[in-house]
Amino acid sequence: MKNELNRQWWKEGIVYQIYPRSFQDTTGNGIGDIQGIIKRLDYIKNLGVDIIWLNPIYESPNDDNGYDISDYRNIMAEFGSMADFDELLQKMKERGLKLVMDLVVNHSSDEHEWFKESRKSRDNPYRDYYHWWPAEKGTPPKRWSFFDVESNAWKYDEQTDAYYLHCFSVKQPDLKWENKKVRQEVYDLMKFWFEKGVDGFRMDVISFISKDTNFPELPASYNGEFIPFYANGPKLHDYLQEMNESVLQNYDVMTVGEAPGVTIDQALNFVDADRKELDMFFHFDLMALDREEGETFLMAKEKWKLSEFKKIHSDWDAVFAEKGWGSMYLNNHDFPRSVSRWGNDSRTHWYSSATMLQTFLLSMRGTPYFYYGEEIGMTNIKFDTISDYRDINTINRYKTIEANGGDLKAFLENEKDASRDNARTPMQWDNSKNAGFTTAQPWLKVNANFKHGVNVAEQDSNKDSVLNYFRNMVQVRKNNLALIYGTYTLLQKDNEAVYAYTRTLDDTVFLVLLSFSTKNTSFTLTEQSFEKAKLIISNDDAPSIKTDNIFELKPYQACIYKLM
Ligand code: GLC
Repeated sequence: MKNELNRQWWKEGIVYQIYPRSFQDTTGNGIGDIQGIIKRLDYIKNLGVDIIWLNPIYESPNDDNGYDISDYRNIMAEFGSMADFDELLQKMKERGLKLVMDLVVNHSSDEHEWFKESRKSRDNPYRDYYHWWPAEKGTPPKRWSFFDVESNAWKYDEQTDAYYLHCFSVKQPDLKWENKKVRQEVYDLMKFWFEKGVDGFRMDVISFISKDTNFPELPASYNGEFIPFYANGPKLHDYLQEMNESVLQNYDVMTVGEAPGVTIDQALNFVDADRKELDMFFHFDLMALDREEGETFLMAKEKWKLSEFKKIHSDWDAVFAEKGWGSMYLNNHDFPRSVSRWGNDSRTHWYSSATMLQTFLLSMRGTPYFYYGEEIGMTNIKFDTISDYRDINTINRYKTIEANGGDLKAFLENEKDASRDNARTPMQWDNSKNAGFTTAQPWLKVNANFKHGVNVAEQDSNKDSVLNYFRNMVQVRKNNLALIYGTYTLLQKDNEAVYAYTRTLDDTVFLVLLSFSTKNTSFTLTEQSFEKAKLIISNDDAPSIKTDNIFELKPYQACIYKLM
C-alpha cells in the first residue's frame, strides 16, 4: 500500500545555519556582515542546501551577540543596512534559497525603546510591556537567570523602586506576553518581515514566553532544575495558537521553535498540525546527553553511550510517526562542534567521524539542520585562557566561580568542551591569513587547523574531502524520498559500536550503518533478509560483506545500502 506523504518544502529542505558575525567579513572590521553572506551565496547553493537560517541580525548592543534586540525592524550597523538585507533576500530568491530569520521575543534589549520607556515611571504606557515587581512587596520569589553572575533573574531598578525580570542577562529583560499589546507588537513585526518575503522564523526560547505573573515560589520538586519550570507557562499554547491565527496561517512559511524544557510527551502539543501552532521545534535531549543532570553547560564525568544516543533519536522519531515533524541537529551556536563532541577530532578519525555524522543527519526522518563549517568538519577551538573568550555565558560563569573562590582551572577545562565560543570561531575559507574570514583582527580567534586542511578551498579541490562527501550525501537524500519520509526502524539497540537502522518507503528499503567506534567492527544483520545489498554511499572503501550478512566496518565508517 502506498504511504500517504504529507509533502512540504520544509520537510524536504536542508537547513544551513549561519552565525553572521563569524561567516565572512567584507568591511575589514573583523566582524562578518551581510555582504559577506551575499558573497558566499553561490558556495551555499552549491552545497545543495535549500534554506538559510540566520542568527539575529537586528540592531543590538550585543550583550549576547544579537540576542538582545534594541530595534526589531532595523539591521545591526556592524552587519550592514536594510538595503544590504534586501539585496541578500533578492539574491537568495534568484538562487531558489529560502531565508529563515531568528525571532527573539521572550526578551528584548534593555536599550529597546519599549524598555527605556517602561523603566521611566510606574504609570508609563510601556510599563506593562515587561515584568515588574514593586519593592514594597519585598524581595521577589527566586527566579534563576542564565548569564547573571548571581544567577538572579530579578534586577532592582532604582528609578521606580522595583525589580524587573530577566531570565537571561540583565540587559535582556523579559517581555510580558500576558499583555495583549506586547503580543500585537510581536505579530506586527513578524508581518513586517513576512511582507518583505522572509520564509520563516526560528523562535528563540519560545517555550519560556508564558509566565505565571503571580510569581509563586518555585515548587520544591524543581530542585534547581528550573528550565522545565520556565518551559511550562500556563498560556504558552494559547499564545502560539493566537500567533498562528494572527500571522502564520496567512503565509507559506516554516516555523521552528527553540524549546528547552519541552519533554517528549509534550511534543505533539507544539507540532500536531491540527493544533495550528508550530511546524517543528528543537528539543534538548541530545544536548543534555553528555552533561551533568540539569546542567546545560557542565560536562558529565562519564562518557555518553551510543545506546543512549540511539534511544533519544528513536524515541523522538516514534513520537512523530503519525503526526508532527522533527528537526535534526548535532550542534549550533550554543553548543560545541559536532565532530569534536559526537565524533572524534583526532587526526586519525576526523575525516571519517565528520562524514559519518553527516550521513546520520541526512538519513534520518526530520529536517536536517547543519551549522556553518560543519560541512568541512570544523572543530572545537579549546581556548586556554579566559581572555580568549567573548561569550557572556563563559565570561559571567567564570566571574561567579571567581567570586565564590571556586576552581577556575577546572572551569576552564570544562569550557574547552562546553563553551559556546567553540562553535563561533570564524568560518575557514582558505589557507590565507585568518582563513580568508577577515583582513583585520577577527572578533574571535580563528582555529589554527585551517592551515591543516580544515578549509573550503583545499577541500573543494579534493574529491575525497569532508566537503565533497557532504555534497554527495546531500544528493543521496534529495534523490531518495525514502530517506526523507520513510519509516525508521532501529536495529540492535544495545550495540555500543554501530548505529544501524532501516528507512522504508513502499518497496524501497535502505540500510544505514554507522560505526561510532575507533576500531574495526563486524556488524551482523540478522533482522532483515535480502538478496542483494547495493552500496549507495560510503565514506570509506566498500565494506566487505560475508555471505552470512556480516559487514566489516572500518573505524567511524558510514554506509548506506539499498536492500533488494
Ligand atoms: C537562545 C539562543 C542563545 C541565547 C539565548 C537568549 O538559547 O540560542 O544563543 O543566548 O536564547 O536569547
